[in-house]
Amino acid sequence: MENQEAQETDSVDATVDSTDDSTLTILFFADCVGQPGRQALSQLVREMREKHRADMVIANVENAAGGFGVTPEMSRKIFKYGVDVQTSGNHIWDRMDIQDYIRKERRLLRPANYPSSAPGNGSYVFQLPDCKVAVLNLMGRTFMNMALDCPFRTADGELSMLNSETDIIIVDFHAEATSEKQAIAHYLDGRVTAVLGTHTHVQTADEKVSEAGTAYIGDAGMTGPHDSALGMRFEAAVGRFMTGLPKKFTCASEDIKACGVILKINRHDGRARSIERFRVDFDPSNSNSTV
Ligand SMILES: [Fe+2]
Ligand SMILES: [Fe+2]
Repeated sequence: MENQEAQETDSVDATVDSTDDSTLTILFFADCVGQPGRQALSQLVREMREKHRADMVIANVENAAGGFGVTPEMSRKIFKYGVDVQTSGNHIWDRMDIQDYIRKERRLLRPANYPSSAPGNGSYVFQLPDCKVAVLNLMGRTFMNMALDCPFRTADGELSMLNSETDIIIVDFHAEATSEKQAIAHYLDGRVTAVLGTHTHVQTADEKVSEAGTAYIGDAGMTGPHDSALGMRFEAAVGRFMTGLPKKFTCASEDIKACGVILKINRHDGRARSIERFRVDFDPSNSNSTV
């Protein structure tokens, strides 16, 4: 784990670290891509949970199945690795069998602003021994080319329900446009604990905690093979850009990293105290995981 130490030293703590009994620690793992991403989760969730004494782990799993969706079996395994709530995005429907599963498994979320006829839910309230944490999944509309309801108004509706349960609300905002991510973070400022961007797979260096106690990062990054085009082998990506023809994307395998953020939160009022990026190397040859 020497690499992990080195990587974490490079990360930035946006505010003063203050860990005491009132501090709740949540780990968020960004988009898990393919077998390499799942293998990284199978080992690093447990290790980082212990190292950071995390109370809860959230992971975005929309690309866990070879880059395209997540299967029920994979989702079940990811819960066993120590992930408490799974979020997703535009790839959630790529595997047909996820529809039945997501109807029953409330801890796997799809964006809340899909039409109400879509199976599953966009939020979940996770019960910890002495507090509750709500996770809300929303998707942006700019450059996403999807028939989605307004994420801003959907957030209003969801918060009116979630606020009766808890002040600790973590939002995974799955979106392409940084401007839309910044806009919704402003719209929700002081109303939620964190707005964490996902979908672009490239971690941004813009993490902060607002005066009102809302943590933000434009994109938390990717858990998967980083020697790639967003987790996919370069050949198909280059070919598609050069010819405009469809190409079969396959998952890359080199330079595996887990990316995400560590949130420290005042468990009594739901205000974020700090947000810290992580970008941890994972060496599958040193792993006894058989994912
Ligand atoms: Fe993704
Ligand atoms: Fe996505």
